[in-house]
Amino acid sequence: MRSRDLICGLAATMLFAAPAFAQVKPPKHYGSPIAEADVAALDIDIRGPDGKGLPPGQGTVAAGEKIFAEKCVACHGEKAKGGSQFGAMVGGIGSFTTNARVLTPGSMYPYSSILFDYTRRAMPMDSPQSLTNDEVYSLTAYIYHLNGLVPADGTLDAASLPKVAMPNKDGFIVDDRPDTKATRCMKDCPPINN
Ligand code: HEC
Repeated sequence: MRSRDLICGLAATMLFAAPAFAQVKPPKHYGSPIAEADVAALDIDIRGPDGKGLPPGQGTVAAGEKIFAEKCVACHGEKAKGGSQFGAMVGGIGSFTTNARVLTPGSMYPYSSILFDYTRRAMPMDSPQSLTNDEVYSLTAYIYHLNGLVPADGTLDAASLPKVAMPNKDGFIVDDRPDTKATRCMKDCPPINN
């Protein structure tokens, strides 16, 4: 009887689950070519220490302080010292060689454009990608200012942001194991020998 109960239970689950599956439809125009403008909206990555891909615009520490108070403080706390949803985003510089290391944009990021990329892409967490580029530059300037890396009257743009000197610039090692260098094969590929 137990297995029959189980089967009945499964059948009921499937019955109720079926409408949920049916609602998952492929996006409209799935499989059709995508317009350049739509690709551009997705193509927002910033490629490394030289800041390639940083958009036009600029922002000041002072403007960032205001925006932070409106859109970030609820989760990150006053002066980014830690809030309801996340710990400190300031301090910790030099703590990597101790057991009590504190990971913040100032102490951890090896290059400065990471903060811009992350904030533009993912924050504020309840409304990601709602910030203008000027707002993201301002917030980046403000958070780096709180970390002692940008002066109080500082302005950041695509040219100056990559020049912010990051204390942990040399704190990461390059992963040079051979399997990190696999070359991509798209056609007539050799068999995989595992
Ligand atoms: C609704 C809550 C919420 C709001 C509002 C919010 N954040 Fe966050 N933020 C988070 C959480 C949670 C994380 C951690 C996410 C994770 O680790 O996946 C985070 C992570 C971050 C990080 C990464 C820190 C690191 O360790 O590298 C940055 C930078 C950041 N937020 C900036 C901002 C800025 C700037 C704003 C305002 C525009 C903002 N956040 C608004 C919740 C929030």
